[in-house]
Amino acid sequence: MLLGLLLLSMICISSWNMSIPTKRACDACHRRKVRCNSHQPCGNCSQAGLSCTYDAIPQKKGPKGSRAKVISELRETQKQTDLAQASQSRRSSTSPPSSPKYGRASDLLTRELVESCTEFFFVHMYPTMPVLYRAQLQQAVAEMGHSVESYSLVTSLCAFMLIQPGIMLKNSPILDGAPGSATNPKLGSFLMEEAVRVRKGYDYIENPSITTCITSFFLFGCCFGLHKHNSGWLHLREATALAQILGMQDESSYAFDNVIENSRKRRLFWLLFVTERAYALQKHRPLTLHATIGLPTLDQDSSLAGFIHLVNLYRPFDDNFIGLWNKSRTDCSPFTLAHLQQQLTEALPTFLNTTESQAADLRTSQQWLRTMVWQLSITNGFLSSNSPDTSMTFRFPIEIAKDLVAVTTQFSIQSMEVHGIGLIEKVFDVACTLIDVMSCVLVPSSPHPYEPGPQEYLNQLLTLISTLRGGESRYLPLIMTKIRDTLPTILSALPPDLAKKMASNGADKSQHEGTPSSTGSSPYSTPPILPYYPLA
Ligand SMILES: *[C@@H]1O[C@H](CO)[C@@H](O)[C@H](O)[C@H]1NC(C)=O
Ligand SMILES: *[C@@H]1O[C@H](CO)[C@@H](O)[C@H](O)[C@H]1NC(C)=O
Ligand SMILES: *[C@@H]1O[C@H](CO)[C@@H](O)[C@H](O)[C@H]1NC(C)=O
Repeated sequence: MLLGLLLLSMICISSWNMSIPTKRACDACHRRKVRCNSHQPCGNCSQAGLSCTYDAIPQKKGPKGSRAKVISELRETQKQTDLAQASQSRRSSTSPPSSPKYGRASDLLTRELVESCTEFFFVHMYPTMPVLYRAQLQQAVAEMGHSVESYSLVTSLCAFMLIQPGIMLKNSPILDGAPGSATNPKLGSFLMEEAVRVRKGYDYIENPSITTCITSFFLFGCCFGLHKHNSGWLHLREATALAQILGMQDESSYAFDNVIENSRKRRLFWLLFVTERAYALQKHRPLTLHATIGLPTLDQDSSLAGFIHLVNLYRPFDDNFIGLWNKSRTDCSPFTLAHLQQQLTEALPTFLNTTESQAADLRTSQQWLRTMVWQLSITNGFLSSNSPDTSMTFRFPIEIAKDLVAVTTQFSIQSMEVHGIGLIEKVFDVACTLIDVMSCVLVPSSPHPYEPGPQEYLNQLLTLISTLRGGESRYLPLIMTKIRDTLPTILSALPPDLAKKMASNGADKSQHEGTPSSTGSSPYSTPPILPYYPLA
């Protein structure tokens, strides 16, 4: 009897055990016969860009196929599902991005478009963003049809390239403007929405990869170019958070992966580092990444020299500086700022062995950063008229403007345009600061009467802004308003064609479009500096 009960309970227990669902492999891992971590989606699926399902009824063992063959077979069948789902979610959206002009995004991403965009990236953007290798991108393009991760990467890259002014597409029926037109922001923003939407099809946050992180960075670039600064900030934060999840800020995490993977990770970390700092200065945002790992080394790639210069330019703008900048700290010293100016002046060698467009970015950033430091000096009351250090005088922005004019006249318009509005905003900030100085400081007449003065520098900077694509319509009206408010007398000193452009772009437009600054605290990205000038 007792034995019988015992036996019965043993049987019960064992059958109960039997019915516990054992950790199940997902459908794809099951078919590929690889270990599955049973997450949703599982590690291997998100790595391979397969959609992860647990639908199949466990089958009896079948004939074994090669893993490689199975994975391509799985991808082939999922390709259709992915694209169907993508267009499904496009249709069901409340703000439909599908446009009568463009139709389905997957039809738009023609081989020619993808080729133009990737070529443009490697020729013009790669030196500043050396985070993708050609072979790797080619592989992503080949996998686009069946990998959500690759599809999102390539789509976001194309979107970013189309939004940055400068890309020329020949005879394509999908252009915003005439064939050969160099701006395609509508097409770009359509593709950006497509990338965001399709990416939601897998859990990229729980299963991040370097590719996911780069995709977030490209999406940030798109939003920045479209003046969507809140969305841009979120994508940038997403990229830096993913970088931290992947351990990129930790030198010890570079001990394991292979050399190529490591160097990609390292460059991506520093790219995000620089981007975040520029954004913190422009839009008054806090930082998340710090200089915690070593720089990339030149022995892998001597074309990295310019990228390393860029990192070094932004490196001094650390938490201390940003804390002073966003006014959460007050312990600023004139010595620190004078030293920083000195560092900035010496930061770049006379001869830059980089591509022209990279040199344009470096030289413009240098002058812009000098302007930012000067603004902090003036808001802290550190300037005087007769300081022996010109960087601590009121007229320093005139010197900066002179230097900026001298460097930008060396560069072709296209080499500057590839940097999009990022570069225009920097020139804009320098010009606005110059206007403030001209309106408030008694500019001593030049000791050399035949040398150009601040008005000439201003005219040249405004001419540059009006020439760069994307500059005239948005930034000229803002400058016009600023001149009217602070220094109307200089309007008559503008070159006639510029004055005409400024008048035709009228101030009414600027009221509709708002200002480039998302903080709303100041009408320009420069802080209001007027009250700090001595009355003398
Ligand atoms: C992926 O599959 C391999 C076998 O090919 C296995 O060793 C590994 O643990 C799996 N990784 C994950 C994250 O499931
Ligand atoms: C400039 O860079 C190229 C490769 O980008 C390299 O081959 C060349 O030696 C460099 N020249 C100088 C003067 O550093
Ligand atoms: C200001 O910047 C510092 C440094 O990045 C940051 O810790 C702080 O949270 C920021 N404060 C505000 C209000 O943004």
